[in-house]
Parts: sequence; C-alpha cells; structure tokens
Amino acid sequence: MKVGMIGLGNMGSGMAANLLTGGHEVTVYNRTLSKVDALVTRGASHAAQVADACRGDAVITMLADDGAVERVVFDDAGVIGSLRKGAIHISCSTISVALSEKMAAAHAAGGQRFLSAPVFGRPEAAAAAKLFIAVAGPPNAVDQCIPLFEAMGQKTFRFGEKPAAANLVKLSGNFLISSVIEALGEAMALVGKAGLDQHQYVDFLTSTLFNAPVYKTYGGLIADKKFEPAGFAAPLGFKDNRLVLAAAEKLRVPLPLASLIYNRFLTLLARGGDNLDWSAFSQLAAEDSGQPALPPHTAERAHESEQ
Ligand SMILES: NC(=O)c1ccc[n+]([C@@H]2O[C@H](COP(=O)([O-])OP(=O)(O)OC[C@H]3O[C@@H](n4cnc5c(N)ncnc54)[C@H](OP(=O)(O)O)[C@@H]3O)[C@@H](O)[C@H]2O)c1
Repeated sequence: MKVGMIGLGNMGSGMAANLLTGGHEVTVYNRTLSKVDALVTRGASHAAQVADACRGDAVITMLADDGAVERVVFDDAGVIGSLRKGAIHISCSTISVALSEKMAAAHAAGGQRFLSAPVFGRPEAAAAAKLFIAVAGPPNAVDQCIPLFEAMGQKTFRFGEKPAAANLVKLSGNFLISSVIEALGEAMALVGKAGLDQHQYVDFLTSTLFNAPVYKTYGGLIADKKFEPAGFAAPLGFKDNRLVLAAAEKLRVPLPLASLIYNRFLTLLARGGDNLDWSAFSQLAAEDSGQPALPPHTAERAHESEQ
C-alpha cells in the first residue's frame, strides 16, 4: 500500500521501518527533521509537510499526545484537510476517547475513513514488528489495512465499529500495567529491604504464577533499576493515567488505584523524573521504606528546573 507515517519517535520509527520491510511504499514526516534520515536511507520518501504524507491510501499518526495529534490533524493543511475522500487515517497514538470521537466525526464529514489502532508493546516490540494492535472503526477500512497491521505487529484485535472503543481498551490496558508497576514496586521494596536478591525474586515470580510479559519486562527493569534511556517516558505515562481517569469520570467509574498512581507520577515528576521511564515511579515505594531508590541526579534535575 501507499502509506504515510507521521511521527518518528521511539515507536513510530520502528513501525515505519517495518512497513518498508513489508514492501509498502512509505512516506515519512516528522517535526524534527533529523529522525527522517535513517528511514530515507532504507527507502522511505520524505514528506516536508504533513500534507505530503497524506497522498496515499492511508496515513498513520504515531504522535506523543492529544496536543500533537490535534495540531497535525486539524491544522490547515493537516491530515483532515489533505487526505483524499475514501482514504484512511489510522491513529496509533495513545490519546483521549474524546479526541478519537472528534476525529471520527471530522473524517466522516470529510468523506474519509478513520481507524483507531493503538498499540501494546514498547519500542523494542515496535522495532521487531511484535506489537499487539487494538483496532476499531469501519470494517471495510480495517480489512483494507490488515497488510499494514501485519507488517507492524504480531496480532491484531478488533473492537467494533466505533474507533473510540479501541482507545478505551488501550487506556484501560495502560492502567493495568501501571497497577502492576506499583504492585511490583511495593513487593520489591519489601523483599529488597529484607536483603533478598531482587533478580532472583523476579525470576521466581515469572517462572511460576506470574509468567507474563508485563511482569517480566517491568520486574526486570525494577530489579536492574534501569530507567534511562526511557523506552516510555514518565510524562507520557502520566498522560495516560490522566486520560484513563478522564474516561472513567465521564462514565462515572471510580478508579481508586489510578488515583493513587496519579500521585505517584506527580511525585516522580516533581523530583525531576521527566527523562526517566514511567516505571521509575516503582521506586517511590522503596523510598517510602527508607531505601535509596531514584538515581541520585534526579533530585538535582528537579532543583535545576526550578531555577
Ligand atoms: N514508548 C512506548 O513504550 C509506547 C508504547 C505504546 C504506545 N505508546 C504511545 O505511542 C505514542 C508515541 O510514543 P513514543 O514513545 O514514540 O513517543 P516519543 O518518542 O516521545 O515520540 C513522539 C512523537 O510525537 C512528535 N510530536 C510531539 N509533539 C509534537 C507536536 N506538537 N507536533 C508535531 N509532532 C509532535 C515527536 O516529534 P519530534 O521528534 O519532533 O519530537 C515524535 O515524532 C504516544 O501516544 C505513546 O503514549 C508508546
């Protein structure tokens, strides 16, 4: 297919590379030009403007947050203004339910088709075409885009015809992952303070009752205390926590655990954790128990940002 990829961050660059590997004709756009070069070397065309990435059968957006997506989609010469009738916008970013609904309405008015296709998996999974993709939107558009999903992911799951349903699935999934991070942080603070080996502890968990990718990935990161470079940066994780709370408020569903994690994120960011992986908030349980936890320079950064 002829496809545009807008957003070449930690996730989008791997996804674009796999579209090329899958034999698709890919045009890439990124706000920061330097990230385009590696993909052009691999055969992608460079779009100087958003509109130039919207000339094909489909365009994928993989941008940081609601603000970035709003700008790229609704600006003059943005996605809505540039995509031809019948073409498909696939939004892979983790964004709000409300923005997904707004885009679905705007694309319908423009005679274009809109899919929400947020993804599960970190940058390593994106680079290895191992993402899990939750997609929702018009079935004929989903069918047409299966070759794109197959190039980027290991499995695609359909969640009906309303695009926002996939966004809610993604936000609830990240809520679950953040709950695992909090629970692991607390359990590992406990065994760590007692002097147990945290790697051995995670090996035990993930070889027995907790044999799941989420415990392996985050148990490993917490045991290694490896939060830099961030695969999924703390401000983006905080964004997802706020978005799930907003979706829950609209539906009147209390999420007490998400509220607790909201404050964990605030503490992490207040202490200068912007450049750390989102899983670094796991260390706050260790700090509460009097154990040194966050990298020592984190506090210095918080101090610098106040100057
Ligand atoms: N990382 C993960 O583990 C992971 C997993 C699943 C889903 N996600 C979701 O996937 C999306 C992308 O995540 P990521 O980790 O790839 O983020 P990232 O590395 O921070 O990349 C963000 C991308 O958005 C662009 N961008 C940000 N603000 C912009 C603006 N105002 N206008 C235009 N472009 C803008 C950035 O352009 P520049 O290069 O110019 O900054 C970059 O291309 C997010 O919604 C995230 O929640 C991430």
